[in-house]
Amino acid sequence: MFQHVAPFAGDHIVSLNEAFQRDTRPHKVNLSIGIYADENARLPTLDAVHQAELRLATARMAKPYLPMEGATNFRSAVQTLLFGARHEAVASGRVVTIQTVGSSGGLKAGAEFLRRWFAFSGVWISDPSWDNHRSLFESSRITVHTYPYYDPAGGVCFDAMLECLRTLPPRSVVLLHACCHNPTGADLSTAQWITLITMIQERQLLPFLDMAYQGFGDGVDTDAFAVRALARAGVPFLIANSFSKSMGLYGERCGALSVVCTDAQQAEHVLGQLKFTVRQSYFSPPAHGGQIVAQVLGDPLLRLSWESDLNTMRDRIRAMRVRLHAALSQRMPDADFSFLLRQRGMFSYTGLQPSQVDHLRDAHAIYLVHSGRICIPGLNANNVDAVADAICATLLL
Ligand code: LMR
Repeated sequence: MFQHVAPFAGDHIVSLNEAFQRDTRPHKVNLSIGIYADENARLPTLDAVHQAELRLATARMAKPYLPMEGATNFRSAVQTLLFGARHEAVASGRVVTIQTVGSSGGLKAGAEFLRRWFAFSGVWISDPSWDNHRSLFESSRITVHTYPYYDPAGGVCFDAMLECLRTLPPRSVVLLHACCHNPTGADLSTAQWITLITMIQERQLLPFLDMAYQGFGDGVDTDAFAVRALARAGVPFLIANSFSKSMGLYGERCGALSVVCTDAQQAEHVLGQLKFTVRQSYFSPPAHGGQIVAQVLGDPLLRLSWESDLNTMRDRIRAMRVRLHAALSQRMPDADFSFLLRQRGMFSYTGLQPSQVDHLRDAHAIYLVHSGRICIPGLNANNVDAVADAICATLLL
């Protein structure tokens, strides 16, 4: 029956992480998958998450199926987090949110919804983008194109990006990273977002935002600038967001898909079709992660504790950027590593070539993604100098 089934080559990022786990070299360093590690190279359980879990366990709640769209308290907490308290779009009922299996599940539900209900010529993703974006949309039989995004000097080639997007047919879908771009760490400035939003409106494009790192850039509200500005401008759009990184809930697979519509009636129909999309695939989302999020966001003290831990994670990432920049600059004073300080969130694009990435792994037990992306929180006071030594030795080969 299954003789014809071809082998799966594996997902690059996930396979790399698995290879790291198997590596027995004691000095190994994991700068590959986007998982936050603390100063001791451990994935922390946030205190607010732990408290929320204790409360849930004590309440000894039954575990019925959730509705197809997920739990009401979770969905409304997500809307407040994304759009802020009292945003007109939410108050007027023109935003709908469903709880999804991570933000990957949100992207997938959004792709299926668009394929069924939206006539368009394809989705445009940034060059480069998270590897799985292409695969997620292509598996929904949506054509994927790219727009210029990354400037090898370390930032965004904004003029080229605008020039490309300006030529797209109306109703083209444009995938945008709301903050902390994966894989480059290069984000648009506020002024660039404003210019882009005006162009999106003029050209009648449909943005699909991916926000997996809210709070890792500048803070929960600042990182939501693009989301709130798009909604304020009256642009219809989709947004998938995740609690994997911001609450350390990776394995709970907890995210959401929101669709901002023109009015409440449209929104009701869209919600109905999103529910149908879910029913056709996994029926309803898992409950536990969403209940942790709803507890944390719904209780002022837990929320405060969460934001304080989020600030700690963000500050540590920034401190590691500064440390790595200093260590590299000291070893190679003529080279420019300032991109490390300008890029934001978990990732930085180093410009290291695939052969150099292979060398770092084989000779130094340092794991990073083939594109040269490093996951900054894999660095800590114990390994940052060794990583700098290894990178410089590799660059000078
Ligand atoms: C990453 O980019 O490393 C993370 O988002 C994990 C993944 O799913 O690839």
